[in-house]
Amino acid sequence: ITNNLALTPPMGWSSWNNFGPDINETIVKATIDEMEKNGLKDAGYVYVNIDDGWQRYKGSRKDHPLEIDPVKFPNGMKPLADYAHSKGFKLGIYSGPGVDTCAGYTGSEGHAEEDAKMFASWGIDHLKYDACCSHHDEPEDVVQQVMLDMSQALISTNRSIVFHACHCGWANVWQWAAEEGANQWRIGQDISDDFNYPGNREKYYFDVLDMLDRGNDIVQYAGPGHWNDYDMLIVGLNGESKQLVGTGCSDLEYRTHFGMWSIVNSPLLIGASVQKLSRYDLETLTNKEIIELNQDPLGQPASVVWQNENKTLQIYAKQMQDESMAIALLNRGSTTADMSVSMRRDLTVGWDVYKLRDLLKHKDLGPYDIPFSTEVRPHEAKMYRAYKVACTVGC
Ligand code: DGJ
Repeated sequence: ITNNLALTPPMGWSSWNNFGPDINETIVKATIDEMEKNGLKDAGYVYVNIDDGWQRYKGSRKDHPLEIDPVKFPNGMKPLADYAHSKGFKLGIYSGPGVDTCAGYTGSEGHAEEDAKMFASWGIDHLKYDACCSHHDEPEDVVQQVMLDMSQALISTNRSIVFHACHCGWANVWQWAAEEGANQWRIGQDISDDFNYPGNREKYYFDVLDMLDRGNDIVQYAGPGHWNDYDMLIVGLNGESKQLVGTGCSDLEYRTHFGMWSIVNSPLLIGASVQKLSRYDLETLTNKEIIELNQDPLGQPASVVWQNENKTLQIYAKQMQDESMAIALLNRGSTTADMSVSMRRDLTVGWDVYKLRDLLKHKDLGPYDIPFSTEVRPHEAKMYRAYKVACTVGC
């Protein structure tokens, strides 16, 4: 089944990474207002997604109904959705298939249809349906069924609601979720606010590089309408998130993280408070030429096309709808490196002469008829788009 939505990866903001369960109407409205002012909306960030913590009751759905917390959201969700829509945004909400959610609030178990109808009546446009905490000890077909139930229930409402089947990488969601009508699914546990923290794997948190490695293994499952979700962006959290572990990243590392999430076609959901983003972070997040890689209608995610032996240097590449190629030269190591990319060897496009566009410096380079070489600093990703100028064989 399909809802024909999210033909390019959803872009917006999610409350979780910064606010956790302390989310309320004032924060959501202020976020909308700020995103309208600071250029994020114009750059394409339109989903404003309320994560866990909006519900009135903690505890099991068997003991409590699913209701809106009247203190946090005194006017309910409908006026908030109207407010979002009046300004060109979309409103997202959160629930899960368990009797309760990860943060301990009532879930949707046994009430998928009723809840889907309720969300639709509020004017909701996106649902994150989170099985991370409720279903990870259960057989995969059980997870599959509860996700399908909600997917069908949402489609039955006849409202366009993007469906995020979230299981934090516990089950192989990517193998079946697209067929069940899911538009995105998390490929791993929560991201940590670290570029490369080797201890995180044991602690069940994925840093930026862990997440990229996981995604590269399952890249074939993503495409228009169904995306590998590398988790909400950590740009701008600066080690201050109460929800995520990690000590924060440098400006350059956040820029690399954003460039890589873009080129692999992850949903781009900002996790920081939009009021606290530095000028540099805003520039990172609103770089139109980088966002174009993510929102390209062909919907082809980039994968690793070359790496050195110890995997400190990698080239990611993908084809774009207009037949140009998107390229990232990623230095995962701790020393500056010379990297070189060949259109023939690495991109297998057989171009003899090509031009490059530097997507971070916004500069045209070339034409070239030899491999392109450049210096890449530790934890930097240089991002380019390559265009064919001349080609003799195999093109
Ligand atoms: C686990 C998810 O991975 C997080 O992104 C967040 O949605 C929390 N659950 C909410 O409890």
